Amino acid sequence: MKRLGVLTGGGDAPGLNAVIRAITKTAIREYGIEVIGFRDGFKGVMEDQRMLLTESAVSGILPRGGTILGTTNRDNPFKYQVAEGRFEDRSEQCINKIKEHADALIVIGGDGSLSIAHELSLKGLPVVGCPKTIDNDLAVGQAKTFGFDTAYAFATEALDRLHSTAESHHRILVLEVMGRYAGHIALHAGLAGGADIILIPELPFTYDKIIAKIQDRLQQNKRFSLVVVAEGAKQLGGEMVIQKMIAGSDDPIRLGGIGETVAGQLEKLTGIESRVTVLGHLQRGGSPTPYDRILATRYGVAATDLAAQGQFGYVVSLDGENIKPIHLSQVAHGIRKVDIEGELLKAARKIGISFGD
Ligand code: F6P
Repeated sequence: MKRLGVLTGGGDAPGLNAVIRAITKTAIREYGIEVIGFRDGFKGVMEDQRMLLTESAVSGILPRGGTILGTTNRDNPFKYQVAEGRFEDRSEQCINKIKEHADALIVIGGDGSLSIAHELSLKGLPVVGCPKTIDNDLAVGQAKTFGFDTAYAFATEALDRLHSTAESHHRILVLEVMGRYAGHIALHAGLAGGADIILIPELPFTYDKIIAKIQDRLQQNKRFSLVVVAEGAKQLGGEMVIQKMIAGSDDPIRLGGIGETVAGQLEKLTGIESRVTVLGHLQRGGSPTPYDRILATRYGVAATDLAAQGQFGYVVSLDGENIKPIHLSQVAHGIRKVDIEGELLKAARKIGISFGD
């Protein structure tokens, strides 16, 4: 192999630059391969926007958030927007364009981009995937995705800060965190930040159960409560709120507002002053934690090793202590939910955290 292509797709996550840096360094130093970065995900492939990734191009980017290549949720080559409201399958063209500039492609992405990578690999493109999402909900076995550690560390800090003001004002403070389909950020941050109630998509809640926990605290003379709610959490029997569709994407859901609803309802039902904080994209920005920098670096090195050895159609994934390849077909279109029978969730219950279920 002479030239390796790389792109970052979907929502950004802290650690993307660390992966790009690791791929570039490994390819050049270990294998003498040139690295071509496509800009803004598959959009850069289709629109011939790319850059040569040299060691100096990736110098200094390890601690930087975002991605120097840019990214977008749009521009799926299988549903490519050719005019307002008109989409066509341009996957053949996409493969030809990639092959013009690179012998193989590393896709650093979440479920959407890795599903596209899988479909392209079925059509003959040599691809390796690298798993990314702050939500930690990719179907990569028990492996963590990079970006998650940074996101929940930030949410934990937010809870620490909310704690003192909640206590001073005797309020219920609700923190809404990301997690459309799975509650990993909410569960981890809730545990690390000492939340009293954690609401996740996997366990539909009732206000009665949440209020029972708040009453219990009042009886212990604890006049404040901290609630963490994942954006995809829903009331038992309720629906998730779909706010808009993304053109050309299968990904229709943009949630938000559940935190406000919960805070409003709790104030109404308990009479206790309640406020909401929505963390939003603050969770996706900023410098990756040391854990995420190392994980991202390992994923970048492992993905490059696979590509250089001609092993395509895989996603790299941390299995225990070691990085192992997982078939792209296993990861594409899969979501890993919080294990509601798992030790972590049970531990949370044992120390008195309520899930409102
Ligand atoms: O998948 C990552 C994620 O951060 C979700 O948790 C969140 O719902 C979504 O992206 C937000 O996406 P966007 O930036 O496109 O609104």
